[in-house]
Amino acid sequence: MIDTIFQHRSIRKYKTDPLENTMLNQILEAGTRASTTGNMQVYSIVVSKDKEIKKQLWEAHFKQDMVKQAPVVLTFCADFNRFNKWCLAREADPGYDNYLSFFTAAIDALLASQNVALAAEANGLGICYLGTTTYMARSIVNILNLPKGVVPVTTLVMGFPDEKPGLADRLPLQGVIHNEIYKDYTADDINAIYKDKEALEETLELLKVNNKKTLAQIFTDNRYTKKDNVLFSKEYLKIIEEQGFMNND
Ligand SMILES: Cc1cc2nc3c(=O)[nH]c(=O)nc-3n(C[C@H](O)[C@H](O)[C@H](O)COP(=O)(O)O)c2cc1C
Repeated sequence: MIDTIFQHRSIRKYKTDPLENTMLNQILEAGTRASTTGNMQVYSIVVSKDKEIKKQLWEAHFKQDMVKQAPVVLTFCADFNRFNKWCLAREADPGYDNYLSFFTAAIDALLASQNVALAAEANGLGICYLGTTTYMARSIVNILNLPKGVVPVTTLVMGFPDEKPGLADRLPLQGVIHNEIYKDYTADDINAIYKDKEALEETLELLKVNNKKTLAQIFTDNRYTKKDNVLFSKEYLKIIEEQGFMNND
């Protein structure tokens, strides 16, 4: 398991070979062994293999080609629909139409997704998460026919890798760990923590190609802009509301 974790790299190119159902089911079963809030399992995983559905998902996911290439696309959803139905059928009154319940269910979905990711990698498969799930939640709700009580939170593409990229860098451990209590960062700490990332060959190349002075500017000005973040925040909040999770009074 430790080897699998330390060998993780996101895979963005896939062979078209299908996945055997036995392997896929074992991986999905591993997903269901993740911890969940109160063991309620308030998530669902939508398994998409059909070419036409994957094409629609590819459009939604900003046309990232791995969505079409990979044999399996898994959409992890926060899901109180099933649990609410069970409660109502058992003379129990569910109070799960609020933001906390959405967040609870989102945590369950994300924990399951990471178990699935590791189980897939332990089987020699590659995976990549798709952040476009939250940006394009409305399209995904429509494509996958998600009912009230269900919100997509993340997606994994999964299949046999057709590339072996190097390991991506990470911040040094002391950059993300705090002992006992949170110790806020000084300017010197920030310099030390980001020093290696900023000196990477690929960073220098990015600066040149994008004509930017700092790597941070590539995040703020190109990759994750305020404008996009505000737009997608509004959209996602609307979907969370429409799917029945904003009754907070
Ligand atoms: C929630 C989430 C969303 C992501 N979305 C995308 C995506 O839409 N496209 C993509 O190519 N990679 C995506 N990634 C992969 C990250 O870019 C990748 O994990 C990161 O660069 C570190 O590289 P590594 O996974 O190879 O270690 C996503 C990762 C996470 C956790």
